[in-house]
Amino acid sequence: MIFGRVKPLDAILATAEKKGLHRTLGAFQLTMLGIGAVIGTGIFVLTSEAAQKAGPGMMLSFVIAGFVCAVAALCYSELASMVPVSGSAYTYTYAVMGELLAWMVGWALILEYAVGASAVAVGWSGYVVGQLKGWLGIDLPLALVAGPYAGGIINLPAVFISAMVTWLLMIGTSESAKVNAVLVAVKIAALILFIVLAIPVMNADHFEPFMPLGTVGVFGAAASIFFAYVGFDAVSTAAEETKNPQRNVPIGLIASLAVCTLFYLLVAAGAIGSPLGAQPVAGPNGEVLAPGSTALAAQCQAIVAGGGLEPLPCSKEALAHVLRVIGHVNIGNLLGLAATIALPSVVLMMMFGQTRVFFTMARDGLLPEKLASVHPKWRTPHVVTVVTGTAATIAAAFLPVGKLADYSNSGTLFAFFMVAVSVMVLRKVDPDRHRPFRTPAVWVIAPLAIIGCISLYLSLPLLAILVLPVWGAIGLVIYFGYSRRHSHVGRGMFDVPEASPPPEPHVPGAF
Ligand code: ALA
Repeated sequence: MIFGRVKPLDAILATAEKKGLHRTLGAFQLTMLGIGAVIGTGIFVLTSEAAQKAGPGMMLSFVIAGFVCAVAALCYSELASMVPVSGSAYTYTYAVMGELLAWMVGWALILEYAVGASAVAVGWSGYVVGQLKGWLGIDLPLALVAGPYAGGIINLPAVFISAMVTWLLMIGTSESAKVNAVLVAVKIAALILFIVLAIPVMNADHFEPFMPLGTVGVFGAAASIFFAYVGFDAVSTAAEETKNPQRNVPIGLIASLAVCTLFYLLVAAGAIGSPLGAQPVAGPNGEVLAPGSTALAAQCQAIVAGGGLEPLPCSKEALAHVLRVIGHVNIGNLLGLAATIALPSVVLMMMFGQTRVFFTMARDGLLPEKLASVHPKWRTPHVVTVVTGTAATIAAAFLPVGKLADYSNSGTLFAFFMVAVSVMVLRKVDPDRHRPFRTPAVWVIAPLAIIGCISLYLSLPLLAILVLPVWGAIGLVIYFGYSRRHSHVGRGMFDVPEASPPPEPHVPGAF
């Protein structure tokens, strides 16, 4: 294979057979797991960001981002049903494209998960600050609830939740699919409440001008709002823990994506149609301000100080703000409470996903196994948890949610891109292998996924575009400096040495 070391599919499957985790999840639980992982900061917080980038045209942004995820999910499904083992895009790439590219995907997944966890933590902070104000009248100083980019110094609530989640993952959270199901129900109930209250009082005039910043704005918002869909791949990551994965994983992936897209469109429509509208906030000279910038924060403060309603792009708790403005103050606060309760499970899921990818890479010898060592008492990979938790906490302390989400997206888009390439390569090089789920019209769907990922990647802000090659370069140094020599595949060891997988939490996203 031109790409070098490939881990044979049969070896991967044999490994999974031997070391397989307990299979407990069915199609319904998988769908719940997917929805639980997907709904979070994207819809509850980044709706403001999307409004600033695209205005009402963010409806199209949701459709574009959802479409790219749907075609990527169809590619994921084929690989997930053929290779129902943990490790997701990393494992698929290893089997198809070889070790170097698999390493790059695994490395990019770390970006997706660890930085994604920081983004959700910052999103949570906005809601918790709103809660303190809404119920208790406590107004925390901006300096302590926002990073320097948004006019503050440090985001302490985001630090608190990242540290809490790191600690929970370190000491080992107990398995609880039930608690996860309750949290998913809380999030869905909050969104349904929003839709029921906001859609009937929608004002169609607020949809004009529909695309104040043109198609560039719509694609820019799609690239950011893509974050709202991230997490559905957690379903494929759980393939090793799924009953009849050949049937249930594709159902779980596609059903969770469909449900979320429907919710997002209805919620976006409700927010745009509210008295706040969704037009971007302009600076004193009519210039459009960058989301998450100090200039935008200053302009927002000026509008509120002048007695105006806080515009949608300024709000850090967009959906609760909309409900308060349409006259449902207490329900708005309740929605905020629901977000406050439910978002930490997304932080947990992302950090957990990170440790799982890290663990799989260490199991293959690409990372030092010591790093992924399991604590004797807690039975968790405490070292990697602390290292990544600390990094995520620092990022959450100082960076705004939109920037973090964009950085996370650049890693995710790369992983999705590789999955789409892998599915086509595998059809060519191994056409006869049994495929329990076949991506329909693969020669159309996979190229669409590839084009979609590239388009969204190029629509990200420049800094986020640059994050991927810089992160990738660091990854290459580590690969050639360490991983290549230590790789089990490189040393002809297709069967992994014994190292128990981190046993808990059994279900990602469960407290
Ligand atoms: N999709 C997840 C969220 O929006 C990551 O929080």
